[in-house]
Amino acid sequence: MKRKKIEIDIQSFTYEELNASDRQLIDKARKTNEHSYAPYSHFYVGAAVLLDNGEIICGSNQENAASPSGTCAERTALFYAGAKYPDQAVKAIAIAARNDTEETEMPVPPCGACRQVLLETEQRFHTPIRILLYGKKEILLLKSVNDLLPLSFGISFLK
Ligand code: THU
Repeated sequence: MKRKKIEIDIQSFTYEELNASDRQLIDKARKTNEHSYAPYSHFYVGAAVLLDNGEIICGSNQENAASPSGTCAERTALFYAGAKYPDQAVKAIAIAARNDTEETEMPVPPCGACRQVLLETEQRFHTPIRILLYGKKEILLLKSVNDLLPLSFGISFLK
């Protein structure tokens, strides 16, 4: 028997410790969760995606009474970015969530389906995506989707 261990790299910051461009991306995600349509979960998520050309594309979660028909903030933003700028690599994504009364204390990590879409985006453009997860207590930074979804299934298996 052999044991294999995977190490992932996560950095924790306060808002004040971040540089101006990361703060800007986070602020856009925080603002965008105000546009969520989440009458069922009352959990409002915003995502802001920074593209190689400097554009920032935002998206929020959009729910539906037939629940699988809705989608998460991350995929709203990533798919909109892909539809509008199909040739632009994604450099970074910031994610911020709130409930009816306040922003989350802890950073909210993306769901499994969004991780898979983030992974494919990273592999498609051969560019690591920086992931900023906002919480009032701390902000987590991952420097690649590989740190969010280790041991992943992706494009390479289909070649
Ligand atoms: N949600 C997101 O938009 N992103 C995440 O990373 C986690 C969950 C949404 C989906 C649903 O509208 C609500 O949050 C509760 O799960």
